[in-house]
Amino acid sequence: MKRVDDFRLRFGNRELVPIMIGGMGVDISTAELALEAARLGGVGHISDAMIKTVSDRRFKTHYVKDKLKRFKYNVASSEKAEVQFDLGLVAEATRMHIGRTMEAKRGDGMIFINCMEKLTMNAPRETLRVRLATALDSGIDGITLAAGLHLGSFALIEDHPRFRDAKLGIIVSSLRALQLFLRKSARTNRLPDYVVIEGPLAGGHLGFGMDWAQYDLRTIVTEIQQYLQAEHLDIPVIPAGGIFTGSDAVSYLETGSAAVQVATRFTVANECGLPEDVQQEYFKASEDDIEVNGISPTGYPMRMLKNSPAIGDGIRPNCEAYGYLLDANGNCAYITAYNREVALHPGAKKVSVLDKTCLCTQMRNFDCWTCGHYTYRLKDTSRRNEDGSYQLLSAEHIFHDYQYSVDNKIALPT
Ligand SMILES: Cc1cc2nc3c(=O)[nH]c(=O)nc-3n(C[C@H](O)[C@H](O)[C@H](O)COP(=O)(O)O)c2cc1C
Repeated sequence: MKRVDDFRLRFGNRELVPIMIGGMGVDISTAELALEAARLGGVGHISDAMIKTVSDRRFKTHYVKDKLKRFKYNVASSEKAEVQFDLGLVAEATRMHIGRTMEAKRGDGMIFINCMEKLTMNAPRETLRVRLATALDSGIDGITLAAGLHLGSFALIEDHPRFRDAKLGIIVSSLRALQLFLRKSARTNRLPDYVVIEGPLAGGHLGFGMDWAQYDLRTIVTEIQQYLQAEHLDIPVIPAGGIFTGSDAVSYLETGSAAVQVATRFTVANECGLPEDVQQEYFKASEDDIEVNGISPTGYPMRMLKNSPAIGDGIRPNCEAYGYLLDANGNCAYITAYNREVALHPGAKKVSVLDKTCLCTQMRNFDCWTCGHYTYRLKDTSRRNEDGSYQLLSAEHIFHDYQYSVDNKIALPT
């Protein structure tokens, strides 16, 4: 019987354990978690979502406070177009987060950064260009383009000296999205080094509509593999979403996938950025406690625990401090929803906003408990303490369980 360890992910002449820990925004996939994946010979991700607040927490910088101070005069205004990011400071925070992570890297694995196009940051092209170029400047091993079609992303960095040497990949949820990306990037004469195919059971934002349940990862993977073969395109495919055991992973590796991307199992790792009380909520969750809803202002459905404090919370938009989801015109669907509720409830001290959430604030505070579909199985991966709580796991334990387990078994911690 095969194990994940019988396979290798090949990038040129590099061979890696074919386990990639997916990016989990706003520092849920921390540098510590990514460093463990690399030390163990796989691929880890950090994320550049809200990188300035991540830097503040990690390095005691004051980016968020300083931005708020600069735009404080605008807090009560619903007009946010002028609340622009200072590109130099975005670059500085990116350099620090990535640079320090790469300096600490040990082992044969790699560290990539997850870069979401939907973080439009009030100037989509300019900010994305800085984020991508600075990631390359800072020595990241690779960039995974996420949450968006990224039709212009390769062109934004095609003149960068590392454009052809860094690993560049994209997350897609359909063959059509991949075809579009390949067509639009063809001019740069560079194929992606890998394609993560994310199915409907993943955590975070989904690349499907609210009809996500009608799709199935295996079908999409097969369709994309057949297309790549027919076109003689040698691009490693990496399925993601609901791959919960080593055996699940083997079933993809045996049928031509180059690696798997996993995340949910690592949300209960010591090295994960979620606070421990939130990790216990993940452990406790039953299937009924998880939903896919439309409250993300990005317009993508998002999976989360139904008891996330973010749901229904009507906090005042925090764009002067954050503003990562402001579109090219300074709008965000949460601002519209919030203003509507304020107008409907004149004089109310606090409103409730049910249809959208202030995702920046809620993710930053770990109050939007986004999670994968199989979160309700996490309790089967650990032991219970006497007080009823669950034991957190080391990333190494989870990684090795994926790497060496057979028969759909999950090793419990000793
Ligand atoms: C808590 C959490 C946060 C996530 N955040 C992001 C993100 O910021 N960007 C992204 O591209 N994918 C994100 N994902 C998706 C994962 O990177 C990964 O592709 C997917 O969850 C794999 O499926 P699994 O969780 O069933 O293993 C997130 C997943 C989880 C569980």
